[in-house]
Amino acid sequence: MRIDYKTLSQTLHALTSDETDEIAKMATMACELHHADDRFDWTGFYRVVAPELLKIGPYQGGHGCLVIPFSRGVCGACARTGEVQLVPDVDAFPGHIACASSTRSEIVLPVRRADGTLIAVLDIDSDQPDAFETEDARGLSMLITQVFGAPESCD
Ligand code: SME
Repeated sequence: MRIDYKTLSQTLHALTSDETDEIAKMATMACELHHADDRFDWTGFYRVVAPELLKIGPYQGGHGCLVIPFSRGVCGACARTGEVQLVPDVDAFPGHIACASSTRSEIVLPVRRADGTLIAVLDIDSDQPDAFETEDARGLSMLITQVFGAPESCD
């Protein structure tokens, strides 16, 4: 199965548009994403809990490491730079943190509120090599903005 970003956008709107709790939104997004695509073998969030420090948030898949400083790993690189990390071969990424020996490729995206505050990174691991494309970066970034970055309604 391959993710359809338009369909998932509609699903996530229905499930989260009235929700303001960020953890609840992360849990819902991790679940819907994980089950939408056979490439996604680990899907979850690492939250910014202190300056330069990430801690695990809601996720689907095998256990993930609990703490990641901004100085380490693909997630740390994303949090440090604010840029999407699209990694076709995790073994070629200096400092990659392997939560599962089966992981071959990875994409990590920044998660920001409407005011630009970095609150987390979204991490998706695949057991398939070179699994992610720029289309995934575009589609996932769109979903993140929809769920976390849209200005809250004033009503
Ligand atoms: N691979 C990530 C660590 C998180 S586990 O994959 C869930 C990294 O290098 O930051």
